[in-house]
Amino acid sequence: MRIVTSVSAMQRLALQWKRRGTPIGFVPTMGYLHEGHLSLVRKARQHVGKRGVVVVSIYVNPAQFAPTEDLANYPRDLPRDKKLCRDAGVDVLFVPGDKQMYSGTGVSPVSLHPSTYVVEENLSRGMEGESRPAHFRGVTTIVAKLFHLVQPDVAVFGAKDFQQAAVVKRLVRDLNFPVKIVVAPTVRETDGLALSSRNKYLSAAEREQAMVLWQSIQLARQAVRASREAIPASRLKSELKWLIETRPAARVDYIEFLDPETLLPVARVKRGTHLALAVFVGKTRLIDNGRL
Ligand code: PAF
Repeated sequence: MRIVTSVSAMQRLALQWKRRGTPIGFVPTMGYLHEGHLSLVRKARQHVGKRGVVVVSIYVNPAQFAPTEDLANYPRDLPRDKKLCRDAGVDVLFVPGDKQMYSGTGVSPVSLHPSTYVVEENLSRGMEGESRPAHFRGVTTIVAKLFHLVQPDVAVFGAKDFQQAAVVKRLVRDLNFPVKIVVAPTVRETDGLALSSRNKYLSAAEREQAMVLWQSIQLARQAVRASREAIPASRLKSELKWLIETRPAARVDYIEFLDPETLLPVARVKRGTHLALAVFVGKTRLIDNGRL
């Protein structure tokens, strides 16, 4: 496995592969890898085959964190990530530093915010976009940059970040990036908790209570399947909020029932409606989602 830290070296390598017709699979991450990420790596390999190359990037992108968020404390363990990538058969691990990603783009020598952004203006409005206002602007900008550097034929994103995947698909469509976006299923612990690097922040008691996100999705699924008619979203929301907040450490940030294509909220919930939720468990904000 080759480790690349320079943006120009990454782009040169990618352009060489392109000239030779080598398919490029890409998994962008912020590191602190877990089995969820490794499932994305396997998916990328399936798409490009043995002849292709799989690139994983690790970059904790400052532009997608608000000043109040956990950027400085975001978990990092590069030696472990390297080993996991090597064992998973990754060809290139791209680990650019802030200077590499952002030098020359701001007023200070290394401003962690560029002066050119790529902004998706529709799908990124609600839910995560409402709770974390500059978040998607940071994501779309860095993803566009990474696509220019890695030149992937296929890029794999996790379904846990359902809204992010929808926003990235829209970015690719609107700006004609020649890349296929694949969304791979969420990997869960045995009790249903979606794998996330942020799970590391949970105390033992919080970890126990965190399974309430998955329980909420299942409860909503059961309700929809048991009901002959569509259920008012407001009623189901209240029921889920009640269920979640019986856990002492849990506080709902949002619960949204939405159309999976437009991501617009629906008034009545039926089969095929998508449920997305964000819940603080202690200080840790967890997200999950599922089709009902
Ligand atoms: O999902 C993530 O880990 C990040 O949002 C991404 C796509 C790597 C962009 O920084």
